[in-house]
Amino acid sequence: MISLLAELNAAVSDAFAAEGLDAELGQVQPSDRPDLAQFQCNGALAAAKRVKANPRVLAEKVAARLKASVLFSEVTIAGPGFINLKLTDAELETRLKALAQNPQSGLPVHGVGKRVVLDFGGPNVAKPMHVGHLRSTIIGDCLQRLYRANGWSVTSDVHLGDWGLQMGQLISEIAIRRPDLPYFDAAFTGPYPENSPISMDDLEEIYPAASAACKADPARLDAAREATAELQAGRPGYRALWRHFFNVSETGLTREFGSLGVKFDLWKGESDSYPLIQPMVEDLKARGIAVEDQGALVIFVARPDDKKEIPPLILLKSDGAVLYGTTDLATILDRVREFDPDLILYVVDQRQHEHFEVVFRGAARGAIAGRAELEHIGYGTMNGEDRKPFKTRAGGVMKLYDLINMAQEEADKRLAEQGLAADYSAEERASIAKAVGLAAIKFADLSNHRMSDYIFDLARFTRFEGKTGPYLQYAAVRIQSILRRAKEQGFASSLPVIRSDAERDLALQLLSLPGTLVSAEEKRAPNFLCDYVFQLAQNFSRFYADHHILSETDVALRDARLGLCALTLDTIARVLDLLGIEVPARM
Ligand code: ARG
Repeated sequence: MISLLAELNAAVSDAFAAEGLDAELGQVQPSDRPDLAQFQCNGALAAAKRVKANPRVLAEKVAARLKASVLFSEVTIAGPGFINLKLTDAELETRLKALAQNPQSGLPVHGVGKRVVLDFGGPNVAKPMHVGHLRSTIIGDCLQRLYRANGWSVTSDVHLGDWGLQMGQLISEIAIRRPDLPYFDAAFTGPYPENSPISMDDLEEIYPAASAACKADPARLDAAREATAELQAGRPGYRALWRHFFNVSETGLTREFGSLGVKFDLWKGESDSYPLIQPMVEDLKARGIAVEDQGALVIFVARPDDKKEIPPLILLKSDGAVLYGTTDLATILDRVREFDPDLILYVVDQRQHEHFEVVFRGAARGAIAGRAELEHIGYGTMNGEDRKPFKTRAGGVMKLYDLINMAQEEADKRLAEQGLAADYSAEERASIAKAVGLAAIKFADLSNHRMSDYIFDLARFTRFEGKTGPYLQYAAVRIQSILRRAKEQGFASSLPVIRSDAERDLALQLLSLPGTLVSAEEKRAPNFLCDYVFQLAQNFSRFYADHHILSETDVALRDARLGLCALTLDTIARVLDLLGIEVPARM
């Protein structure tokens, strides 16, 4: 079955074509005025410009053809030539029944045969993951779920920051504190100890100290730079120590991502691109793309029509060290060789926009990206009440793990206020509170347009009323409980019917999922999914308020309504799953 919107597009495009107008102008969209129409087509206006005719006259002609179709109960013209459409209930019902029989039908498949690499998360080894990486992780995970749902082959890569100056800072700090360790003895021939001399807790203390020392003292910064260069050049003791940092961090990060419910296909890092850098640089030099500039090796990427100054992509600094842009460029090469993707998406803070602009231009100049389109998916910041990037009370960066605990506690309070999960075991209650806390954080993040900043307000995010994750979980749980009670009473559900305004609105929303999935993907906009599922829950609420379900005495109608409940539940759960939100079995 094709989606309802695609079907309407085809019908209206045909009518345009039959009038000798461009078929592609017959695009249909959900109505801006749901009180007046279900769908609308604005194409007559553009068509009128093209053929220099009166838009209303053209709209009338197209409308006359559409009126002949069995699909529509009403075709009207509004304003300068908008075509408003309403479908007959019989046509809607046929499609609703088909959907209930196979809830997968009509879902987009346009990603089939295409591959996307999604780069998100991006925490840095040795530094604890903090709220700055939270948005990348939540948005990126939603996109990986959405692209998979739309048929794409998706490869997600956490792209750890494991190769930069912070590694040299750590190494040189530990060299001062523990000069006795074999990693610093240039004469040592190995093997190096298997156990790490430092733990995650040590790293969390050592890194800020090292970074502060480098800021305060240029000699310390020089030492850190030198250690970075030596690590990258392969000094065995430094490599062995670095391995420990990596392993210790990976364990910590896996735990944190796991508690968010996020999985990556690849745990690669900047360091994985290292072996590719030398040959890549040689090749770029040989082709005259990379050139010397003030001792450094760069690719000039500025264009005459640039509105602002775009710096060159620096591949090698004068001391031979590689930079963030170098590893990103080599990582593109790595991904293209391994996956030959159609698309690489980078879900990274908008403040890195220029970095990606420069890298993408460098990739284009060097013809490195194969057929892949490269795109930076930026996002704004999560701010505190003071409208500055969110910090803890003590002024530090909030660790993800602490944030999740905070959300769980707040959710637990809310459950108590609502009298929910009251007599469940402590274990079940904790797991519900955790799911609710995560839903609160994720939904709040995803429901804003990703480019906007938002204020972290846990009290608001965890509310069970309004446009929140917990409200939607509760909506799903409530339908689950209706269906459970129906089952206990031996009621069966049957194919849904449309007998009322509330049922029609609910049906229309259910039938518009495929269109929403496509536009959310096209705009890389998780907030479209949030809007959709919130509206669906609202429509269901109205249906539930207006109608008897379990107490309906007309058995056929009762069963059909149960069918509508089941389809709604399936759809809410499906969309919440795309948002990375779980529905508890009960609350
Ligand atoms: N590690 C980086 C940071 O913390 C983010 C990495 C984003 N991905 C990339 N390919 N550059 O800012």
